[in-house]
Amino acid sequence: MGEVDPAFIQALEHRPKPGQTIKAKGIPLIDLSPALESNSRAALEILAAEIGDACENWGFFQVINHGVPLEARQKIDLVSREFFALPKAEKRKVSRDEVNPTGYYDTEHTKNVRDWKEVFDVTVQVPTVIHDPDDKEMKEMINQEACEEYAAEMQKLAFNLLELIALSLGLKKDRLNGFFKDQTTFIRLNYYPPCPIPDLALGVGRHKDAGALTILAQDEVGGIQVKRKTDGEWILVKPTPDAYIINVGDIIQVWSNEKYQSVEHRVKVNSEKERFSIPFFFNPAFYTMVEPLEELVNEQNPSKYKAYSWGKFLSTRKLSNYKKLDVENIQIHHFKN
Ligand code: OGA
Ligand code: NI
Repeated sequence: MGEVDPAFIQALEHRPKPGQTIKAKGIPLIDLSPALESNSRAALEILAAEIGDACENWGFFQVINHGVPLEARQKIDLVSREFFALPKAEKRKVSRDEVNPTGYYDTEHTKNVRDWKEVFDVTVQVPTVIHDPDDKEMKEMINQEACEEYAAEMQKLAFNLLELIALSLGLKKDRLNGFFKDQTTFIRLNYYPPCPIPDLALGVGRHKDAGALTILAQDEVGGIQVKRKTDGEWILVKPTPDAYIINVGDIIQVWSNEKYQSVEHRVKVNSEKERFSIPFFFNPAFYTMVEPLEELVNEQNPSKYKAYSWGKFLSTRKLSNYKKLDVENIQIHHFKN
């Protein structure tokens, strides 16, 4: 193991099983074309039901015919590959810190174990991506236009999915849209370098996404594993050309009063190939108080959570990502009734 920092080593029970790759036949692959092409209410209802089933049974699904031009994805992918190919010293010049949420870092911890990855976070504010206008260095290293174009495409897809999820819960199509007026969404460029100890470390340790919805673009290498709800097995999500992986986060779990659950996932690394992925974290406004939707609770199904502030939750989480802490990270179960 030589020089590998022990901070990367996962506890025995959290290490990936060597050699094992269960392919996710089960993770639903959903064709979104009815949402884009058809004005028929019936077609939309069928699609919404399909998405509802996927959210309930897996918390994860892949979408095709999603309307995002392949070119927009290719452009941001290239930006990412060019950036991460730079020397570390260059990348560190545009580091993210407690004040600047946009930028590079390579020291993230998930549940107090270090992740085998490098990251560049891009803050998205509707309608544009924000970089500090004076930050010349940042502009030279990351092409803002490609990020903006991709962010705009992701917005469209995210709202389409949000509306289908609302319909699937028996709500009005636009019931959830208002929460995203001043959204705290961001795009993350993930780079997983080849790892000399792929059976001991993880690209990202097991976690649930804290936000509302995640739209993930992964490359052809593969590595994201989802914890199957039926038996707790880790299932590899098979790379599918031009598909996006969608998962519901903690906020949808709370809004839906646990009809849909945010599911644990993690990233396996490998010793030969580098891997790139780009999650789009679709998050509501900072001032949102997250609680089960009143339409979805009643006497038989009482509210499972107390309201919590998304802004406070997010800032507490972010602080703990910078360093190894002795306490458990903030979690939604802390707000359980
Ligand atoms: C994440 C995540 C998966 C991947 O960044 O939250 O789960 O494949 N990423 O990079
Ligand atoms: Ni995640």
